[in-house]
Amino acid sequence: MARKIVVTSGKGGVGKTSVLASLGICLATRGKSVLMIDGDVGLNNLDVVMGMENQVVYDMADVIDGKCHINQALIQEEGLGLYLLPSAHAYSSEKLTSAVFGELIARIESMFDFILIDCPAGIDGGFHRAVSCSDEAIAVTTPHIPAIRDCDKVLGLLRSYKLNSVSLIVNRVRGDFVVSGKMMGGGEISKLLRCPLIGVVPEDDTITVYSQLGRIGMNTSSSRDAIDMIACNILNNTFKLYDVTKGYRGLLGKIKRLVSGR
Ligand SMILES: Nc1ncnc2c1ncn2[C@@H]1O[C@H](COP(=O)(O)OP(=O)(O)OP(=O)(O)O)[C@@H](O)[C@H]1O
Ligand SMILES: [Mg+2]
Repeated sequence: MARKIVVTSGKGGVGKTSVLASLGICLATRGKSVLMIDGDVGLNNLDVVMGMENQVVYDMADVIDGKCHINQALIQEEGLGLYLLPSAHAYSSEKLTSAVFGELIARIESMFDFILIDCPAGIDGGFHRAVSCSDEAIAVTTPHIPAIRDCDKVLGLLRSYKLNSVSLIVNRVRGDFVVSGKMMGGGEISKLLRCPLIGVVPEDDTITVYSQLGRIGMNTSSSRDAIDMIACNILNNTFKLYDVTKGYRGLLGKIKRLVSGR
Protein backbone atom coordinates (compact mmCIF):
# COMPACT_ATOMS: atom_id res chain seq x y z
CA MET A 1 0.00 0.00 0.00
CA ALA A 2 1.20 3.49 -0.84
CA ARG A 3 2.19 6.01 1.79
CA LYS A 4 -0.29 8.83 1.21
CA ILE A 5 1.24 12.20 1.97
CA VAL A 6 -0.64 15.49 1.71
CA VAL A 7 1.36 18.67 1.18
CA THR A 8 -0.55 21.54 2.69
CA SER A 9 -0.25 25.12 3.95
CA GLY A 10 -2.41 27.82 5.44
CA LYS A 11 -1.27 30.68 3.26
CA GLY A 12 -1.30 30.28 -0.51
CA GLY A 13 1.74 30.66 -2.71
CA VAL A 14 4.29 29.32 -0.20
CA GLY A 15 5.57 26.67 -2.63
CA LYS A 16 3.43 23.55 -2.04
CA THR A 17 3.12 22.63 -5.71
CA SER A 18 6.79 23.35 -6.48
CA VAL A 19 7.98 21.32 -3.50
CA LEU A 20 5.57 18.45 -4.17
CA ALA A 21 6.55 18.19 -7.85
CA SER A 22 10.28 18.22 -6.98
CA LEU A 23 9.72 15.70 -4.19
CA GLY A 24 7.90 13.40 -6.60
CA ILE A 25 10.83 13.62 -9.01
CA CYS A 26 13.39 12.96 -6.24
CA LEU A 27 11.48 9.94 -4.86
CA ALA A 28 11.00 8.51 -8.36
CA THR A 29 14.67 9.08 -9.21
CA ARG A 30 15.45 7.01 -6.12
CA GLY A 31 13.48 4.15 -7.65
CA LYS A 32 10.09 4.59 -6.02
CA SER A 33 6.79 4.53 -7.87
CA VAL A 34 5.03 7.79 -7.18
CA LEU A 35 1.60 9.17 -8.02
CA MET A 36 1.02 12.89 -7.69
CA ILE A 37 -2.59 13.96 -7.33
CA ASP A 38 -3.63 17.53 -7.91
CA GLY A 39 -6.19 18.10 -5.17
CA ASP A 40 -6.50 21.78 -6.06
CA VAL A 41 -9.72 21.54 -8.06
CA GLY A 42 -10.25 24.60 -10.26
CA LEU A 43 -6.91 26.26 -9.49
CA ASN A 44 -4.82 23.24 -10.44
CA ASN A 45 -1.33 23.85 -11.75
CA LEU A 46 0.66 20.73 -10.97
CA ASP A 47 0.28 19.69 -14.62
CA VAL A 48 1.74 23.05 -15.72
CA VAL A 49 4.76 22.88 -13.40
CA MET A 50 5.41 19.32 -14.62
CA GLY A 51 4.98 20.41 -18.25
CA MET A 52 2.20 17.85 -18.68
CA GLU A 53 -0.80 20.09 -19.38
CA ASN A 54 -0.79 19.30 -23.10
CA GLN A 55 -0.88 15.58 -22.37
CA VAL A 56 -4.08 15.72 -20.31
CA VAL A 57 -6.75 13.72 -22.12
CA TYR A 58 -8.85 12.54 -19.20
CA ASP A 59 -8.88 13.97 -15.71
CA MET A 60 -10.09 12.98 -12.26
CA ALA A 61 -13.69 13.95 -13.08
CA ASP A 62 -13.74 11.61 -16.12
CA VAL A 63 -12.56 8.75 -13.91
CA ILE A 64 -15.21 9.50 -11.28
CA ASP A 65 -17.95 9.78 -13.92
CA GLY A 66 -16.88 6.44 -15.42
CA LYS A 67 -15.88 7.99 -18.77
CA CYS A 68 -12.49 6.29 -18.68
CA HIS A 69 -10.43 3.79 -16.72
CA ILE A 70 -8.16 5.37 -14.13
CA ASN A 71 -5.05 4.15 -16.00
CA GLN A 72 -6.13 6.19 -19.03
CA ALA A 73 -6.05 9.38 -16.97
CA LEU A 74 -2.57 8.89 -15.54
CA ILE A 75 0.27 10.78 -17.23
CA GLN A 76 3.78 9.37 -16.86
CA GLU A 77 6.98 11.41 -16.61
CA GLU A 78 9.33 10.02 -19.22
CA GLY A 79 11.86 7.54 -17.87
CA LEU A 80 10.57 7.58 -14.29
CA GLY A 81 7.98 5.70 -12.23
CA LEU A 82 6.29 9.06 -11.69
CA TYR A 83 2.65 9.69 -12.62
CA LEU A 84 0.21 12.56 -12.41
CA LEU A 85 -3.53 12.25 -11.95
CA PRO A 86 -4.76 15.60 -13.31
CA SER A 87 -7.24 17.60 -11.33
CA ALA A 88 -10.89 17.87 -12.31
CA HIS A 89 -10.75 21.03 -14.46
CA ALA A 90 -14.48 21.60 -14.74
CA TYR A 91 -15.94 19.90 -11.70
CA SER A 92 -17.70 21.48 -8.79
CA SER A 93 -15.74 21.12 -5.60
CA GLU A 94 -18.98 20.11 -3.80
CA LYS A 95 -19.41 17.07 -6.06
CA LEU A 96 -15.89 15.92 -5.29
CA THR A 97 -16.56 14.91 -1.67
CA SER A 98 -13.98 13.36 0.66
CA ALA A 99 -15.73 10.00 0.22
CA VAL A 100 -15.52 10.18 -3.58
CA PHE A 101 -11.87 11.32 -3.45
CA GLY A 102 -11.00 8.59 -0.92
CA GLU A 103 -12.67 5.93 -3.05
CA LEU A 104 -10.68 7.09 -6.08
CA ILE A 105 -7.40 6.83 -4.18
CA ALA A 106 -8.35 3.42 -2.75
CA ARG A 107 -8.67 2.12 -6.33
CA ILE A 108 -5.04 2.87 -7.18
CA GLU A 109 -3.05 2.94 -3.97
CA SER A 110 -1.78 -0.62 -4.33
CA MET A 111 0.01 0.37 -7.56
CA PHE A 112 2.36 2.91 -5.93
CA ASP A 113 4.92 3.34 -3.15
CA PHE A 114 3.89 6.94 -2.59
CA ILE A 115 0.85 9.07 -3.32
CA LEU A 116 1.57 12.78 -2.95
CA ILE A 117 -1.52 14.97 -2.72
CA ASP A 118 -1.26 18.67 -3.56
CA CYS A 119 -3.68 20.39 -1.21
CA PRO A 120 -5.41 23.68 -1.99
CA ALA A 121 -4.36 26.57 0.26
CA GLY A 122 -6.62 27.42 3.17
CA ILE A 123 -8.71 25.34 5.52
CA ASP A 124 -12.01 24.82 3.75
CA GLY A 125 -13.55 21.77 2.06
CA GLY A 126 -10.61 21.14 -0.26
CA PHE A 127 -8.28 20.94 2.74
CA HIS A 128 -10.54 18.45 4.52
CA ARG A 129 -10.90 16.35 1.38
CA ALA A 130 -7.14 16.07 0.84
CA VAL A 131 -6.19 15.54 4.49
CA SER A 132 -8.90 13.02 5.31
CA CYS A 133 -7.60 10.75 2.51
CA SER A 134 -3.95 10.90 3.70
CA ASP A 135 -1.83 9.04 6.27
CA GLU A 136 0.83 11.72 6.66
CA ALA A 137 0.93 15.49 6.27
CA ILE A 138 3.68 17.92 5.43
CA ALA A 139 2.91 21.57 6.13
CA VAL A 140 4.83 24.11 4.07
CA THR A 141 5.55 27.63 5.22
CA THR A 142 7.93 30.41 4.26
CA PRO A 143 9.85 32.30 6.96
CA HIS A 144 7.44 35.23 6.72
CA ILE A 145 5.11 36.08 9.62
CA PRO A 146 1.73 35.80 7.78
CA ALA A 147 2.70 32.38 6.41
CA ILE A 148 3.93 31.17 9.81
CA ARG A 149 0.72 32.36 11.51
CA ASP A 150 -1.47 30.57 8.94
CA CYS A 151 0.70 27.47 9.21
CA ASP A 152 0.11 27.44 12.96
CA LYS A 153 -3.65 27.35 12.33
CA VAL A 154 -3.29 24.52 9.83
CA LEU A 155 -1.08 22.51 12.21
CA GLY A 156 -3.75 22.90 14.89
CA LEU A 157 -6.33 21.47 12.50
CA LEU A 158 -4.02 18.67 11.31
CA ARG A 159 -3.66 17.49 14.91
CA SER A 160 -7.39 16.73 14.95
CA TYR A 161 -7.01 14.16 12.13
CA LYS A 162 -5.76 10.61 12.66
CA LEU A 163 -2.44 11.04 10.83
CA ASN A 164 0.65 8.90 11.32
CA SER A 165 2.88 11.96 11.15
CA VAL A 166 2.82 15.71 10.66
CA SER A 167 6.04 17.51 9.72
CA LEU A 168 7.16 20.89 8.48
CA ILE A 169 9.04 22.26 5.47
CA VAL A 170 10.31 25.83 5.59
CA ASN A 171 10.65 27.02 2.00
CA ARG A 172 12.32 30.10 0.49
CA VAL A 173 14.85 30.57 3.28
CA ARG A 174 17.66 33.03 2.58
CA GLY A 175 20.91 31.90 4.16
CA ASP A 176 22.42 35.41 4.07
CA PHE A 177 19.41 36.86 5.92
CA VAL A 178 19.45 34.04 8.50
CA VAL A 179 23.16 34.64 9.25
CA SER A 180 22.65 38.40 9.60
CA GLY A 181 19.61 37.88 11.87
CA LYS A 182 17.10 39.37 9.42
CA MET A 183 15.18 36.13 8.92
CA MET A 184 14.23 33.24 11.19
CA GLY A 185 15.87 29.93 10.35
CA GLY A 186 14.03 26.64 9.91
CA GLY A 187 14.94 25.43 13.42
CA GLU A 188 13.47 28.51 15.11
CA ILE A 189 10.26 28.27 13.08
CA SER A 190 9.93 24.57 13.85
CA LYS A 191 10.29 25.30 17.59
CA LEU A 192 7.78 28.11 17.39
CA LEU A 193 5.26 25.89 15.62
CA ARG A 194 6.12 22.82 17.75
CA CYS A 195 6.36 20.68 14.64
CA PRO A 196 9.28 18.47 13.55
CA LEU A 197 11.26 19.94 10.68
CA ILE A 198 11.66 17.56 7.74
CA GLY A 199 13.17 20.08 5.33
CA VAL A 200 14.55 23.54 4.70
CA VAL A 201 14.59 24.79 1.10
CA PRO A 202 16.59 27.87 0.08
CA GLU A 203 15.19 30.79 -1.86
CA ASP A 204 16.14 29.83 -5.40
CA ASP A 205 14.99 31.55 -8.59
CA THR A 206 15.68 28.46 -10.69
CA ILE A 207 12.52 26.88 -9.21
CA THR A 208 10.44 29.65 -10.75
CA VAL A 209 12.30 29.56 -14.05
CA TYR A 210 11.93 25.80 -14.51
CA SER A 211 8.33 25.80 -13.24
CA GLN A 212 7.38 28.36 -15.85
CA LEU A 213 9.05 26.26 -18.53
CA GLY A 214 7.23 23.16 -17.24
CA ARG A 215 10.65 21.60 -16.67
CA ILE A 216 10.94 21.50 -12.89
CA GLY A 217 12.70 18.14 -13.17
CA MET A 218 15.65 19.88 -14.85
CA ASN A 219 16.40 21.94 -11.77
CA THR A 220 19.80 20.83 -10.48
CA SER A 221 20.53 23.74 -8.16
CA SER A 222 20.53 24.10 -4.38
CA SER A 223 16.75 23.78 -4.00
CA ARG A 224 16.85 20.40 -5.75
CA ASP A 225 19.56 19.20 -3.32
CA ALA A 226 17.47 20.43 -0.38
CA ILE A 227 14.36 18.64 -1.66
CA ASP A 228 16.34 15.46 -2.35
CA MET A 229 17.34 15.54 1.34
CA ILE A 230 13.63 15.68 2.20
CA ALA A 231 13.03 12.64 -0.03
CA CYS A 232 15.79 10.79 1.88
CA ASN A 233 14.23 11.83 5.19
CA ILE A 234 10.86 10.48 4.07
CA LEU A 235 12.42 7.21 2.92
CA ASN A 236 14.64 6.69 5.96
CA ASN A 237 12.58 8.37 8.67
CA THR A 238 15.41 10.83 9.36
CA PHE A 239 15.48 14.60 9.84
CA LYS A 240 18.67 15.73 8.09
CA LEU A 241 18.51 19.32 6.92
CA TYR A 242 20.05 21.26 4.07
CA ASP A 243 22.30 24.02 5.44
CA VAL A 244 21.06 27.21 3.80
CA THR A 245 23.66 29.32 5.64
CA LYS A 246 26.54 27.41 4.05
CA GLY A 247 28.65 29.94 2.15
CA TYR A 248 27.41 32.86 4.23
CA ARG A 249 29.30 32.02 7.44
CA GLY A 250 32.94 32.81 8.32
CA LEU A 251 35.15 35.51 6.85
CA LEU A 252 34.38 34.71 3.21
CA GLY A 253 30.68 34.66 3.96
CA LYS A 254 30.98 38.04 5.70
CA ILE A 255 32.77 39.52 2.68
CA LYS A 256 30.08 38.08 0.40
CA ARG A 257 27.35 39.67 2.51
CA LEU A 258 29.19 43.02 2.67
CA VAL A 259 29.66 43.06 -1.09
CA SER A 260 25.98 42.32 -1.71
CA GLY A 261 24.95 44.84 0.99
CA ARG A 262 23.08 42.32 3.20
N1 LIG B 1 12.35 27.88 -2.93
C1 LIG B 1 11.83 28.78 -3.77
N2 LIG B 1 12.58 29.83 -4.19
C2 LIG B 1 12.08 30.76 -5.04
N3 LIG B 1 10.82 30.72 -5.53
C3 LIG B 1 10.02 29.70 -5.15
C4 LIG B 1 10.48 28.68 -4.25
N4 LIG B 1 9.46 27.81 -4.07
C5 LIG B 1 8.43 28.25 -4.80
N5 LIG B 1 8.75 29.39 -5.46
C6 LIG B 1 7.89 30.20 -6.35
O1 LIG B 1 6.80 30.65 -5.56
C7 LIG B 1 5.63 30.75 -6.37
C8 LIG B 1 4.50 29.97 -5.70
O2 LIG B 1 4.87 28.60 -5.69
P1 LIG B 1 3.77 27.43 -5.77
O3 LIG B 1 2.81 27.66 -6.89
O4 LIG B 1 4.51 26.16 -5.72
O5 LIG B 1 3.02 27.70 -4.39
P2 LIG B 1 1.68 27.03 -3.85
O6 LIG B 1 1.80 27.00 -2.37
O7 LIG B 1 1.44 25.75 -4.53
O8 LIG B 1 0.58 28.09 -4.29
P3 LIG B 1 -1.01 27.91 -4.23
O9 LIG B 1 -1.38 28.06 -2.78
O10 LIG B 1 -1.51 29.05 -5.07
O11 LIG B 1 -1.33 26.55 -4.77
C9 LIG B 1 6.01 30.20 -7.74
O12 LIG B 1 6.29 31.29 -8.59
C10 LIG B 1 7.26 29.39 -7.48
O13 LIG B 1 8.10 29.34 -8.62
MG1 LIG C 1 -0.25 25.06 -5.63
